[in-house]
Amino acid sequence: MEYEEIIQRKKNITESPVHPLPEETVHRLVKEFTQCRMRSKQLYEEAKTCLTEGVQHNLSPTFPFPLAMDHGEGYKLYDVDGNEYIDYLMCGAPIILGHHFKPLDEKIAEHIRTKGPTTGLTSEYEILAAKQIKKMMPTIEKIRFVQSGSEAIMAALRIARVKTGHRKIIKIDGNYHGWGDQTVIGLHVPGTGMMMSAGIPPECLANTITVMPNDFQGLRKAFIDAEQQGKVAACLVEANGGEAGTHPVHPEWNRYVRELCDEYGSLMIMDEVITGFRLAKGGAQEYYNVKPDLVTLGKILMHGYPSCGAVAGRSDVLEVLAGGEGSAAGSHAFVAGTMAANALSTMACYYALKYVDEYNASEKAAAYAEKLTSKLNSLFETRPDLPFFAYNQRSIIIYDTTAFFSVDVRRPDALMQVMNRMKIAKTYQLAILNKGVMTLAGSRMYTCMQHDEYALEKTLEAWEYLLSLIPKK
Ligand SMILES: Cc1ncc(COP(=O)(O)O)c(C=O)c1O
Repeated sequence: MEYEEIIQRKKNITESPVHPLPEETVHRLVKEFTQCRMRSKQLYEEAKTCLTEGVQHNLSPTFPFPLAMDHGEGYKLYDVDGNEYIDYLMCGAPIILGHHFKPLDEKIAEHIRTKGPTTGLTSEYEILAAKQIKKMMPTIEKIRFVQSGSEAIMAALRIARVKTGHRKIIKIDGNYHGWGDQTVIGLHVPGTGMMMSAGIPPECLANTITVMPNDFQGLRKAFIDAEQQGKVAACLVEANGGEAGTHPVHPEWNRYVRELCDEYGSLMIMDEVITGFRLAKGGAQEYYNVKPDLVTLGKILMHGYPSCGAVAGRSDVLEVLAGGEGSAAGSHAFVAGTMAANALSTMACYYALKYVDEYNASEKAAAYAEKLTSKLNSLFETRPDLPFFAYNQRSIIIYDTTAFFSVDVRRPDALMQVMNRMKIAKTYQLAILNKGVMTLAGSRMYTCMQHDEYALEKTLEAWEYLLSLIPKK
């Protein structure tokens, strides 16, 4: 689906009334959900006594309570009550080979059996992992491993400042870059400013300039205005658009960011935490054919194993980590982390990416997503009274039912609209979950190379069920 059509369809949804499930239907769904998930419920009650909110992970809070998982296998998840799900959460994107991928897990298990965990010193796997990343993303010359996507962003911003000697950074609203102090602004819904920035001193955000998505003029103005205020060190982008493409980018956007960065002596940082090795084997930079100066990578590097993040890019830029010639400000960008680049993580990285390459995982996952998106849209066409639609960027499927993240903040009832639309989307997600299909936050589906005809059939059945529950107008 083309950019203009996606934007128009999202607008149609946010400007038309919602289609809530009848209250008695929601009650019945909650009852059905709970009856088959008593162990999860029990664990949630117990968790509330010792864990904040009774749940730690951002992606876990399903309605009416979070599900405790037992294990994953291929494209399936199994919860602690033994319920099976066709998984499209994929751990928040990193799983593209499939869960519990034996060739990878066996390498890790063997290493632990024979060599134990990590030593705190370097290992050959750092080099193997780095070479594998370079092979798949040819714009990358040097790599520094860190421990998460958020850390990779923090490191990239520091590197950019040392390299350019400039101070400001540009962040696009609706883009997500983890939880670092300088980037938690304009989250989720573009235009919401510091709504999610509690606990962050305003000074930490003083050098962050925000620009609305696809605002070409606003972006140029940000660069111009910054000329008198310390200049732009870097413009940071989710190349496929905020929230993994929920706020899609204009086809010319990335090229324009590149142009302005060149014009103003700034660095373009492409956040490939989601898109890396998923949007294409070579990530968003290959998909959009735009060459960033710095790339941030995260969870997909280690394919579900922990301590995963990296900042990577041009040699002369990364060299500022060591001080010396590349450092315009004459200093060294300090980045550290005890568990960064540990042998187990880098081993997981090396083999995971090698298998992604060898199995052609990005292509296979994308082919399935194409098919599912098309079938979903055909199904939605059977209900012309509903404005639902789906689009995909390779193996990332975005579906819009209530389009809660696309509400225009200038509306006087914007906050209420977002909350209400989110609530309704959660009840839709509940119906789908009850039929054994797990999606991300009621708006997204990531596919892996193992999703097959059975998965397709079960997924469409679940959606058909949901549509049958929404009263016709
Ligand atoms: C685009 C993007 N950048 C950065 C991050 C932060 O990564 P992490 O959760 O590993 O800190 C995420 C997490 O989902 C992300 O989607």
